Amino acid sequence: MSEELSDFLDEVEDPSLAQSQAASDVLPGDRQEYPVQPAEPFIEFDKVSIAFGDRKVLDQVSFHVGRGQTLCILGRSGVGKSVSLRILLGFLKADSGSVRVQGQEITTMDERALQQIRKDVTMVFQNGALFDSLTVGENIAFPLREQGGLAEDQIQQLVTRMLDLVEASETVNMLPSSLSTGQKRCIAIARALASQPTAILYDEPTTMVDPIMARLIGDLIQRLKRQLGLTSIVVTHDMRFAHRLADLVLFLEGGTVRFFGTIDQFYACDDPHVTQFLHMDAFILPNMNKQPSAAVSK
Ligand SMILES: Nc1ncnc2c1ncn2[C@@H]1O[C@H](COP(=O)(O)OP(=O)(O)O)[C@@H](O)[C@H]1O
Ligand SMILES: [Mg+2]
Repeated sequence: MSEELSDFLDEVEDPSLAQSQAASDVLPGDRQEYPVQPAEPFIEFDKVSIAFGDRKVLDQVSFHVGRGQTLCILGRSGVGKSVSLRILLGFLKADSGSVRVQGQEITTMDERALQQIRKDVTMVFQNGALFDSLTVGENIAFPLREQGGLAEDQIQQLVTRMLDLVEASETVNMLPSSLSTGQKRCIAIARALASQPTAILYDEPTTMVDPIMARLIGDLIQRLKRQLGLTSIVVTHDMRFAHRLADLVLFLEGGTVRFFGTIDQFYACDDPHVTQFLHMDAFILPNMNKQPSAAVSK
């Protein structure tokens, strides 16, 4: 087994980590300080713009996220959140600006180099993008077989560990059609993790799942961050979710960055657009007991 794979499996399995996380995961509103390296951003957008026809969707958008940090991208529907993720993975080309992953400029990369980036930075799609005709285990194994380089027993080991990690071992032989939306999302996360990414992107991971499942997905994202030190970008419009997970917040409006900063700065921000967004959310989700009172009373 390669040293890298064996280190990865050790990290996944370290029981002391798992225990301390299990205890802290149940604390309400737990945003633990995570040792980040602020000097070198892991992912960086610098004045990125893109238009579709006449419609400018992103206009000089800049933000960054350091290794091991979680950035939540907030904003109304159609504001360019998913477009930002697609630009980051090179599926869409920005009209101007710079996008760097670990200091590497991706806007000028060829498809082959982009494929390597997509291995380091993987995306969990909203619909899970699972193959209906393959079992859960085969779905997780699929990209590993495609990539090559791993023996079948290593693949099986990874599948088992990843399913353990997302607490869905019992689904290994099930077909996606027999799973709930929330379970499918957990399996999609397991599949993304199996390729040992450094960063993971989640596009609206709690949309269309019940509140309990949303909570479980939040626990999982938080656990992965702590246990594996993963850098994460989470697109969400669920403020409770953002409050729980975010180190940094990017709030997009009308194609521009209305706010970029820490989650605490976001709550303390007196920009009327931000307070209106927080108010609206407090109205839609009245059970905001985890949020600092200052944010709701503004
Ligand atoms: N490939 C595309 N071609 C044309 N318009 C697009 C394309 N992708 C996204 N858009 C438009 O860009 C805007 C932002 O989309 P998106 O990033 O998906 O929004 P959201 O913030 O809800 O994720 C929308 O108006 C959408 O219709
Ligand atoms: Mg979207």
